[in-house]
Amino acid sequence: MNTFVYTEEKEKEFQRLIKKYPNSDSMMLPALWLVQEQNGWVSPESMIYIANKLKKQPIEVHSFASFYTMFNLKPIGTHHIEVCKTLSCMLMGAPDLKKHIKDTLGIEPGETSEDGLFHFTQVECMGACGGAPSIAINGKYHENMSSSKLDALVKECKSCK
Ligand code: FES
Repeated sequence: MNTFVYTEEKEKEFQRLIKKYPNSDSMMLPALWLVQEQNGWVSPESMIYIANKLKKQPIEVHSFASFYTMFNLKPIGTHHIEVCKTLSCMLMGAPDLKKHIKDTLGIEPGETSEDGLFHFTQVECMGACGGAPSIAINGKYHENMSSSKLDALVKECKSCK
């Protein structure tokens, strides 16, 4: 039995989007985004669910989900901190942010904090080089980052858990 189903809201969005895409391959990424927005990650059950909806094989859905690094294939913390590790950000302070995350939240790239609140990932260029160092928290970009700005964002996340 498949334990994943879209919420009513996500199903509505799926139905809206599928009218805009010419075939099921092109609908694959939007369908996976809806899963991740709902669940925080893309589970094997959700891949089977998407495969059934798009009349594909589960392995085809898995090949899309595993190709794109923005899809989480295992559960992560409530708040996802992504720090750019490409040149401009590296030169402008990304290593300091990485160290600060380790010192304050106790997590290295790929790890989730013990309380399950934060997950830390290092990512390639986010296309926000002009505001380096750039990060994203829960998909929202923050530029010209510093340790103190990061602390403020973390505090904000903790208050809205
Ligand atoms: S190098 Fe970091 S956003 Fe481009």
